[in-house]
Amino acid sequence: MAERTPLISGNWKMNHNHLDALALVQKLSYHLGGHNYDKVEVSVHPPFTDLRTVQTAIESDRMKFSLGAQNCYFEESGAFTGEVSPLFLAKLNVKYVIVGHSERREIFGETDDDVNRKVKAVFKAQMTPIMCCGETLEERESGGAQAKVAGQIRAGLAGVPDSQIAAMVIAYEPIWAIGTGRTATPDDAQEMCGAIRAVVAEVAGGDAAAAVRIQYGGSVKAGNAAELMSQPDIDGALVGGASLVADDFAGIITYRS
Ligand code: PGA
Repeated sequence: MAERTPLISGNWKMNHNHLDALALVQKLSYHLGGHNYDKVEVSVHPPFTDLRTVQTAIESDRMKFSLGAQNCYFEESGAFTGEVSPLFLAKLNVKYVIVGHSERREIFGETDDDVNRKVKAVFKAQMTPIMCCGETLEERESGGAQAKVAGQIRAGLAGVPDSQIAAMVIAYEPIWAIGTGRTATPDDAQEMCGAIRAVVAEVAGGDAAAAVRIQYGGSVKAGNAAELMSQPDIDGALVGGASLVADDFAGIITYRS
């Protein structure tokens, strides 16, 4: 099996202004002084208004974090009031863009088609999408979780070249586990991440499936990270709440030590 470097991503959601963001990355960098970034890659995803500040801190202090965004629009420019172009993010050296987070889908009505266009737009701007998928509690309880997630993956990847699929990141986030303190069991998370990899194999072939990184997200904490990450098809974590506090996020990133 191809070697996949785990990616731990901090999704700050709508938290921290640019001053708080600066303090947080500085503290995080300090906590991770001896961390080996070849073994576990780290990305931080602040709000748009914080990106320039965090970029400057990362670059001037040579912090080893990759800069990430939480969303973008699929058009490059034009009359789209309030939207942010992928080109603007690329200009700030953003590397990863979260696409289709369940909060975007549920609160802001993003469709699978929007997600698919965003995946393509992010690649076109030379960045890497972290495409989210996940089922609701009702879907899990009625036995429809795998069909829901497989449908999201197929729709999100439609028309995306195999080589890009190999290079992207997919985040499996059961909606019932996000911000609830309720984590999927490592077995359940592994089962779904394995199923996602199988769908990727059908869509883009075995090489892409072996290369694509699949994160688990939903109430990841320092105390459960190691067990989740030890699963064969889990290659990282998308962390919300626990990424807002430097000590907690550092505890997840250093799950191996
Ligand atoms: P949580 O959020 O870690 O607070 O559950 C995860 C996410 O929404 O990405």
